[in-house]
This record gives sequence, structure tokens and C-alpha cells, in this order.
Amino acid sequence: MQLSEQPGGRRAAPGPGGFDPEVVRKDFPVFEHPVHEDKRLVYLDSAATAQKPRAVIERVVRFYETENANAHRGIYELGERATKAYEDARETCARFVNAATPRSIVFTRGTTESINLVRYAWGRANVHEGDEILVTEMEHHSNLVPWQMLCGETGATLRHLPIDERGLLRTDLLDGLVTERTRLVCVSHMSNVLGTINPVREVADAAHAVGALVLVDAAQSAPHLGVDVAALDCDFLAFSAHKLCGPTGAGVLYGRESVLEDMPPFHGGGEMIREVWSDRATYNEIPYRFEAGTMNIAQVVGMAAAIDYITALGLDAIRAHERELTAYALDAVASTGAEIYGPPTAEQRGGVVAFNLPEVHPHDLATIVDEDGVCIRAGHHCAQPLMRRLGVPATARASMYLYNTRDDVDALVASLEQAKGWFS
Ligand SMILES: Cc1ncc(COP(=O)(O)O)c(C=O)c1O
Repeated sequence: MQLSEQPGGRRAAPGPGGFDPEVVRKDFPVFEHPVHEDKRLVYLDSAATAQKPRAVIERVVRFYETENANAHRGIYELGERATKAYEDARETCARFVNAATPRSIVFTRGTTESINLVRYAWGRANVHEGDEILVTEMEHHSNLVPWQMLCGETGATLRHLPIDERGLLRTDLLDGLVTERTRLVCVSHMSNVLGTINPVREVADAAHAVGALVLVDAAQSAPHLGVDVAALDCDFLAFSAHKLCGPTGAGVLYGRESVLEDMPPFHGGGEMIREVWSDRATYNEIPYRFEAGTMNIAQVVGMAAAIDYITALGLDAIRAHERELTAYALDAVASTGAEIYGPPTAEQRGGVVAFNLPEVHPHDLATIVDEDGVCIRAGHHCAQPLMRRLGVPATARASMYLYNTRDDVDALVASLEQAKGWFS
């Protein structure tokens, strides 16, 4: 098999057919370290945050060792290196989401800040009493609470697009819920609980038909499916670096150029201005208008390295691997007698399997499987309204990424079987 060089200096198998998670795994130093003294780390919590490959860690170190200065400030060579690394990262992000221009890429601290930027900068100028904002019933709190707050401030009304019994969006109800009052439709591309992959383009078409804008929460989809803002035809799209193998503290807000152009700033401060007098200021061009103060430069540079890393492996190959592993995990977890939430097939969902074992609280479960080195999440997953819809206070959740293998799923299932023994 021919192997291709990866950005981390390691080698990984190319193409969907040849993708080898065992080889990929070697790029991630964390897997070299056992947990609980001698247990192999079985990391099944990538929907919360992904592990970091050596390529990303080394890129951040190289930035600090050879390029560290403030971006867009120093005119000395080191400052220019920092600015170049930062702006190169913007171009990488623009290519990654297929944006027509890097001017559409605003750096933020992550998905939550990206969405709040839209809430403040766009929302306050464009949403008024009597208007409506539509969210779906499966949104993460980060794509729900900001809209509750905006509606509270403005007198607008928040509406909800329901899901069906399988955890799929009721797009058949879009016609009645998207009206001439709708200003914004907020939709998660992939649910962090159900794994559901939503038909964003269909939602966008319905919104645009009434002149509303569309915001896509791509926190889960950008790392696992890749995103194409032109194909999705969205006006805003948000994602976080840390879920796609990048550092914490960096993320992106993509905004349609014409929409960003018309938006007032978010935060006030350094570098977002054009000229300042003692009583007023004029503002910089986009995207700098939205990047006040010293940004997380090293983290942004690390985010670009992460994007290079996953795109070199191939988003199609990553998706194919995760689909196969998810199908395996759905069967394996179901064999324990667990109730699984979300769509029945791996075609309709990403690598997220939320479940409950009868009579076992998910927190107890997560604590027990941790003894075996298995990391899963337990709780409401920042989606309490969805938990209510499912009729449970919490679930356990195993989430997979490019470095997970069938061995990881087998380890989870073996541990679940043992846990069942504890409670029988
Ligand atoms: C679907 C979804 N949206 C938003 C977020 C928030 O991301 P962050 O905490 O990186 O801002 C998450 C994080 O779990 C998520 O899964």
C-alpha cells in the first residue's frame, strides 16, 4: 500500500478505502500514555473535544518559538511573520468551508462566541418586536440561549422546529413555521446528542424564500463531514477548532460577505477601528471590524494546522471510516440492551451514539467505565430541551473520530456488560 506523508511528519494511508485508524492513532501522543496506571486509553468523547495530533502541537510550539509577536501591529520582521501566519490561517479556513473570500472568515474563541457575535452585532440591528427566530428542537444551548436572550431584549418570538420519533427534523413543518415574520433560522448541521445530520440546504431554501437568514451550527459537522457554505447556501456558519483536532480558544464565524459588510461591530477595542476621536470612532473593514483586541493568534495558527491535517487525510475518508464504525457501534451498544437515541442508521447520523442502560444512571455508568480507561460523556450534553423531548434527564454518549477503532467500541461494550453486572 502506498502511504502519503502527513503534515505531522508521520505517514497515514490515503483514500477512503485505505484509511487506517491504527496508523492515524500514532499521530496522537495522548494515546501513548495509559490511564489508571496501566489501562489503554479508550477515548470516546470527541464530540466534547478532540485529541490533538503532533502536527498541531508542533505548529503551536513553532509559532511561539519562531513567529511570536502580536498580529497586525509590529512592522518589524517578527511581527510580519506573526501577521502572515495569522492571515494564512484565514485563507486556510476560507478554503476549508469553501468561502468565496477570506473576508468572510472572522476569528473567534469558538462556536459559542461566533453565535453570540451574530446575536449582538447582527441581531440587535436587525431583529425587532414582532419578528420571529426559528430554532430546532435539537439545538445545543449555544445555539438556543443566545436567541432566547435576543428575543427577550427585542420582543421578538422564538419558534421551534420539532423532531420526529427517530430524531429527524420535521422539515414538513417548515412551511408553517417559516413566515414573513421570520428573520433568522438557526440549525445545527449535526446534532451533538442524536448525531442526526440535518438537511441544512432545505432549511436554507425555506428561509431564503421569505427573506430570512440562516445560521448553521457546524460545531459537530465541520470536524466530521466537512462543510461547504456555498452548497449549504448559509449566511452564517460557526465552528470550533478544538473539536477538529485544533487548540481550544479558537473558532470561526463565516459570514456572507454582503451581510458582514452591513453589520456593526461586536466588541469595541484595539484594531477593530479605523479612526478614533475622544467621543466617537469609525470602524475597520471586515473581518477586522469583528476582531477587537489581541486575538488567540497561536491557537488560530494551530487551528489551520488542524484543518491541514484532517483535509490531508480526507474528509470523505474520515466520514467513511466513521460511518462504518458508527454502524458497528450502534449494533454493539444495542446488544447490551441499551436504549439508543437518534436515527436508526449510520447513513443518517455522524459518529455520536447517545444511550441509556435500563436502571443505570448515566453518571454512574461513565464513572464505572472510566475504571477500564473508557471515556464517555454523561449528562444533558448542553441540550436540556432535547432531553425533555426524549423524556430523560440525561444520557450516556460515546462519540467517535478518526483515531477510534473497533477495539475501542469492543472495550466500551465489555465495560458496559460489566457495569450491568454491578446493578443486577
Ligand atoms: C452542536 C454544538 N454546538 C455548539 C457547541 C459549543 O461549542 P464550543 O463550546 O466550542 O463553543 C457544541 C459543543 O459541544 C456543540 O456540540
